[in-house]
Amino acid sequence: MPAFVTEIYKAELAGTSADSLVTRLDRSCRRIAVEDQEGRQWSKLNGHLGYTSFNSLPDLADADEVFAELKTTLDYQAALYADRTQLELGGRKLRVKRLWINLLEPNGAQSSHLHTHSVLSGTLYTSVPEASGKLRFEDPRLGVMMHAPPRLPSARLYRQTFIPVIPQRGTLLLWESWLRQEETTHMGTGPRVSIGFNLDIET
Ligand SMILES: [Fe+2]
Repeated sequence: MPAFVTEIYKAELAGTSADSLVTRLDRSCRRIAVEDQEGRQWSKLNGHLGYTSFNSLPDLADADEVFAELKTTLDYQAALYADRTQLELGGRKLRVKRLWINLLEPNGAQSSHLHTHSVLSGTLYTSVPEASGKLRFEDPRLGVMMHAPPRLPSARLYRQTFIPVIPQRGTLLLWESWLRQEETTHMGTGPRVSIGFNLDIET
């Protein structure tokens, strides 16, 4: 009997009707990464190997309407997540409130973190070179496992303390925002491009 289940939602957009959206987003992310001097400067000063728009462009839909299209897609996917995981939203809907670009260069990584002030978070990968890293989720009970034995390496994936997901172009992941995750080191060549996002319940 599974108890206190943590659910991670995964969808593959490559090869679906959203495939061209992935292509257009990738093109736009790369263009903005070149043009956004403020974001490039912030990334450099903060040791981000690559580029993030997180601190420079609060609404990407202002920079390119393709991000408005992405919002619509993500709102739909979040509704599927909410339905599948039986969230009680009081008749209200989940809406994207923030989107940001992450362009990770080789040797780049992102340490363990969670996303505050939101209900759901996620990532959509638009360019994934080989060996460019995994998104590794951490068991949210880890902090209270004072005397718990580790799990066997052969234990089922959902029983492991850390669960790595290897993305491909078009992989969309969604999870509840309190869940800790980290990006392991990009060991490949060429930039890995992804879009991070947070959703909240509409007011
Ligand atoms: Fe994150």
